[in-house]
Amino acid sequence: MRVLITGGNGYIGSHTCIELLAAGHAVTIVDNLSNSSPAVVERIARIAGRQPEFHQLDVRDAAGLERLFARQAFDALIHFAGVKAVAESVADPLKYYSNNVCGSALLFDAALRHGVTRLVFSSSATVYGEAARSPIGEDAPLAPANPYGRSKRMVEELLADLCRANPGLRAVALRYFNPVGAHPSGRVGEAPGGIPDNLMPYLCQVAVGRLPELTVFGNDYPTPDGTAIRDYIHVVDLAQGHLKAFDYLEREGGMHFINLGTGRGTSVLELLAAFERVNGVRIPHRMGARRPGDTTETYADAARAAQQLGWSTRLSLEDMCRDAWCWQKLNPAGYA
Ligand code: NAD
Ligand code: WQD
Repeated sequence: MRVLITGGNGYIGSHTCIELLAAGHAVTIVDNLSNSSPAVVERIARIAGRQPEFHQLDVRDAAGLERLFARQAFDALIHFAGVKAVAESVADPLKYYSNNVCGSALLFDAALRHGVTRLVFSSSATVYGEAARSPIGEDAPLAPANPYGRSKRMVEELLADLCRANPGLRAVALRYFNPVGAHPSGRVGEAPGGIPDNLMPYLCQVAVGRLPELTVFGNDYPTPDGTAIRDYIHVVDLAQGHLKAFDYLEREGGMHFINLGTGRGTSVLELLAAFERVNGVRIPHRMGARRPGDTTETYADAARAAQQLGWSTRLSLEDMCRDAWCWQKLNPAGYA
């Protein structure tokens, strides 16, 4: 298959390109480089042993998309491109509705007009909102609590409407839990600009000496060690889930919503301890206040992915910590 990957230079997109190329597919990347480096393309090619095609393009550039689709036919589309910082979405909602919602609508319009029938969309467990009880199944109530989460839910609804209106169209919205880790080669990984918002990249930057210490956001949660629980998933497992979603769309029509998580919860202190143990490093840290908007416990019910995609995670928390640290050590300043 020739697969169009938007946001293919980003963290999850780059790992998925590697898996697609390794499985023999041809890959075309579209990315505006707003949150990634052009250097990623060569890294992907070196690891996979095959070259992806790259176009620097914004998914809101309708004329640019038209030129791309007119030149080449695609069998499938994986849509990663978008913005993803919760706090920024509260301060600047239009950036989120423009990139994530308008961008998706323009992209799907071009894809449909040019005969693409299989779509995979990067959604997020954030669509479930703060009150959802773990393990969270796909039929749990949806109540995204910020503009980022609402933008993801809107695109899910847009896709479902498109599938209803176009019987030939097949789509999966994959709801990721907490992707962490990196390719085991250490040559691609997560490279956030500025100070990271998320736990694993923050922890890595403390370990490598770029940040002085980690603040644990809250140790008074009603959990065994008092810190909040999340479902961390290795980005390589996550990437492989996308290939399984393609296979599924060969068999099944219509619109599907599927969680990608391990189904297991890990606390902040458990992650910290695993990172120190596996990598033989000390992470200076202190206890701080809860971060507004954080949930106590969020982890997936991963049964639907197992039953429908035949996919479940294979890599452990130790693998996540080892591979994240390998990437950080080899690339202390990311792709710079
Ligand atoms: P990322 O920022 O590393 O990758 C996104 C890529 O899209 C970047 O390379 C960026 O330059 C590009 N991009 C952004 N806006 C664009 C636009 N308008 N046109 C073209 N390219 C554009 O993020 P990621 O962590 O790889 O996330 C990928 C997707 O997965 C996003 O849609 C995100 O919302 C979703 N997601 C991520 C997480 C997570 O924790 N990382 C969790 C759930 C869902
Ligand atoms: C994990 C845990 C923090 C940083 C976010 C988005 C979500 C999704 C994934 C895209 C929490 C704690 C963190 C730190 C800490 N993204 N923490 N000190 O909040 O579960 O999810 O990323 O869809 O939408 O909200 O992930 O990595 O930020 O936090 O103690 O410096 O680590 O409080 O308990 P989160 P995270």
